[in-house]
Amino acid sequence: MTDRIRIEHANRVTTITMARPDKKNALTQEMYGVMANAVNAYGTDDEARALMFIGEGDYFTSGNDLNDFAMSANRQATDKDELPPVVQFLHAIKDCEKPMIAAVNGPAIGVGLTLTLHCDLVYAAQSATFAAPFVKLGLVPEAASSLLLPAAIGLANASDVFMTGRILAADEALRMGLVSRVFADSDFVADTQALAAIVAQAAPQAMRHTKALLRTQTDKVGETMTAESVIFADQLRSPEFMESVAAMTQKRAAVHP
Ligand code: COA
Repeated sequence: MTDRIRIEHANRVTTITMARPDKKNALTQEMYGVMANAVNAYGTDDEARALMFIGEGDYFTSGNDLNDFAMSANRQATDKDELPPVVQFLHAIKDCEKPMIAAVNGPAIGVGLTLTLHCDLVYAAQSATFAAPFVKLGLVPEAASSLLLPAAIGLANASDVFMTGRILAADEALRMGLVSRVFADSDFVADTQALAAIVAQAAPQAMRHTKALLRTQTDKVGETMTAESVIFADQLRSPEFMESVAAMTQKRAAVHP
C-alpha cells in the first residue's frame, strides 16, 4: 500500500487523489496498482455512484514517472504473465461502466491527459494545463488516446497536441471541447464536489446506460438509436422511472437506493 494515492469515500463519491506533490504527482507502478484496484472496486460497489480523480497540491499529474519509464524499458520477460500495473490501470479506466470525473486542478501531462479522455466529466481549474508530450519523449499516444482525442477535439487539434506536445491552457482546452467547464482555482474543489454530488444522487442504472450510450462511436448512429430505443423502453418499465415520476409529482427529491 502506498500513501501516494489517497482513496476517500463520502456521500457516495469515491475520490482518488494522486498525492506525490514533491514529484508533481508523477505516477509510479505502485501508484497505478493502487488506482487500478480502486477503480475496479468502485465498479462493483453499488453504494458508490461517482468516482473523481484529483491531484494534491498544484498539479493534477506530471504523467508517468520518468524513472519508472526507464525501468519498464529494462524490465525483462520474467513478469510477462502479469500485466504491469499501468496496463491494469488503463484497462480499469477503459472498462469502468460507471461515471468518472477528472477534476483537473493543475497541469495534466501525458497519462494525465489520457486519463481525462476516459473520464465522462472533465472539469478544469483556471490554472490547469494539458499536454501530451509523447512524441517529444520518443513515444506514441496510449490507451486509445489517438482515437479518443480526435473524437473529442477534432483531428487537426489532436494532431497539433500530439505532434507538437504543446501546452494547452484551461480556456483553450475549454474552447476545443477537451473540458466541459473551467472554475476559479479558489472555488475548484467545492465546485467539483458539488457536481460530483449531482452525479452521485442520480439514478444509477440510468447513469450506466447513459455512459454506455455516450461512449458508442459516433459513426454507429443507427446502432445507437436502436440501443437507445430498447433501453428507453426498458427504463420506462423500471423502478427508477416510477420513483422519478412519483417524486416529481409529489415535489420531492427522488430516492434511488
Ligand atoms: N517523473 C519523475 N519525476 C518528475 C516528473 C515525472 N514525470 N515530473 C516532475 N518530476 C520531479 C522532478 O524531477 C523534480 O524532482 P526533484 O525535486 O527531485 O529534482 C520534481 O518533480 C519537481 O519538478 P521540477 O522539474 O523541479 O518542477 P518544474 O515546475 O520546473 O517542472 C514539470 C515541472 C512537470 C514541467 C517538469 O518536471 C517536467 O517536464 N516533467 C516531465 C513531464 C513528462 O514528460 N511526463 C511524462 C509525459 S509522457
